[in-house]
Amino acid sequence: MTTTTTSLRSALRSLPDQAQEPTVNDLFVPTLLRELGFQQDEILSEYKTGNGTKAVDKAARKTIGDDIFIHTKTNPYLLVELKGRDINLSDEAVRYHHTVEQLKQYLLAPNCQTVEWGIITNSCHLQLFRKHGKVIFPATKCIELSEENIDEVIASVRKKIEKPAKALTIAVYNNKGGVGKTTTTVNLAGILAFLGKKVLTVDFDPNQQDLTNSLGLPLSPDHFYKALVERDVELRDIIYPYFFKKGNLEIRFDVIPADKRLAEEPEDKLRNHLKLNTLYRKLESLKQDYDYILIDSPPNWRVFSQLAVYAADAVLIPTKHNNLFSLENAATAIKNFIPEVQAAKLDGSPIALPIFFNGEKITPPQLAVAQQELINIIKTAKREKEKFNLLPYFYPKYTDARKDLHIHQVPSYANIASSAFARIPAVYRDRTAHEYYKNLAKEYFLQ
Ligand SMILES: Nc1ncnc2c1ncn2[C@@H]1O[C@H](COP(=O)(O)OP(=O)(O)OP(=O)(O)O)[C@@H](O)[C@H]1O
Ligand SMILES: [Mg+2]
Repeated sequence: MTTTTTSLRSALRSLPDQAQEPTVNDLFVPTLLRELGFQQDEILSEYKTGNGTKAVDKAARKTIGDDIFIHTKTNPYLLVELKGRDINLSDEAVRYHHTVEQLKQYLLAPNCQTVEWGIITNSCHLQLFRKHGKVIFPATKCIELSEENIDEVIASVRKKIEKPAKALTIAVYNNKGGVGKTTTTVNLAGILAFLGKKVLTVDFDPNQQDLTNSLGLPLSPDHFYKALVERDVELRDIIYPYFFKKGNLEIRFDVIPADKRLAEEPEDKLRNHLKLNTLYRKLESLKQDYDYILIDSPPNWRVFSQLAVYAADAVLIPTKHNNLFSLENAATAIKNFIPEVQAAKLDGSPIALPIFFNGEKITPPQLAVAQQELINIIKTAKREKEKFNLLPYFYPKYTDARKDLHIHQVPSYANIASSAFARIPAVYRDRTAHEYYKNLAKEYFLQ
């Protein structure tokens, strides 16, 4: 007996223009999931996420030996939140934003810890999201599906799902100087390595070279430069291990040190060799070797910061509560620079992570001043032409039901500042510093 299988094109063709969710579910989703590589016994409908009674439309995981998803109903790998064609999922639509929020909640729900991918689709539009630890970011733009592009789109989504990059790449950036970018990069790398993660840091501030110096590592004369501009030199060849040893404990994370030649070449000359995607492309071959790649960037929006942000999945933005410019610069990065880079990139990344306050003591009255300032910045952004909503980036825990104005803090602490002199990350020298950065890692990255 032969069974006929529907193609994606004919599934799409079979859908009425205003098909509602049940029709899309019947006529489109089985073919979609099959073409994404899942068999029937690898897919559950109405999967209970563990977030109250909420269920996601589809959950899927490939069978490993006799561990069959429809039997165990545990450890899904992919979630699909489905809508009907009567709901507009183009990325300017209100319902698009609601649906993305809905998917994010599912991805972070208790029964979905193992999930790495989420899809929203109504058969007219489709977008793929990646989850790495706590961080959720787009892995494709919101794509309008047509009979012409659907085979290609779904094939490329399948390719991503089948071979996910292991690493989350994070640029630590703020246009404002002295807010703790380098300190954050070093100590976050230190704590993630301590927690057993494989970490690479990149010193992409060649003029200051603070990250390299604070670890007591030698500068690169021109190796990093060559690895970026020459086809046959790889970043892998210029990685320097940083070791911390104490008794039986040995911790390692890797560093690409700052490069003198990158500092010496004039910017216009550099631009001839360095494209916006150069660092991104060169890092690609390292993404299966690390859990985290952290890039320290300089305090400006010039070539190195632009390449760092382009290379990133997510941008971590330290600020100071008592420095208005650090807050305004954070807003500019979130509403202008990062969207510019997103537009230039094919996959909709990077995303901005919510800001945090770094390295200053905060009294309640000072906090109130900072909150007022942030509210002004949010209001201004809402009134501007693009009507940008900064709220989730300043107050990620704020909802209509709970007006929570919590902003994460890494407190001011003398042993953090003095650690650079010892050439050892503060998290390895001091228990309090260790706790501060563990909290930062948990707040932003670790599930
Ligand atoms: N939590 C903290 N507690 C105490 N001091 C801190 C803290 N975080 C950073 N610092 C200190 O603040 C100063 C600036 O930090 P850092 O060099 O990391 O900032 P940066 O943003 O990288 O600066 P630049 O823009 O020049 O690259 C340093 O002297 C650092 O030791
Ligand atoms: Mg710095």
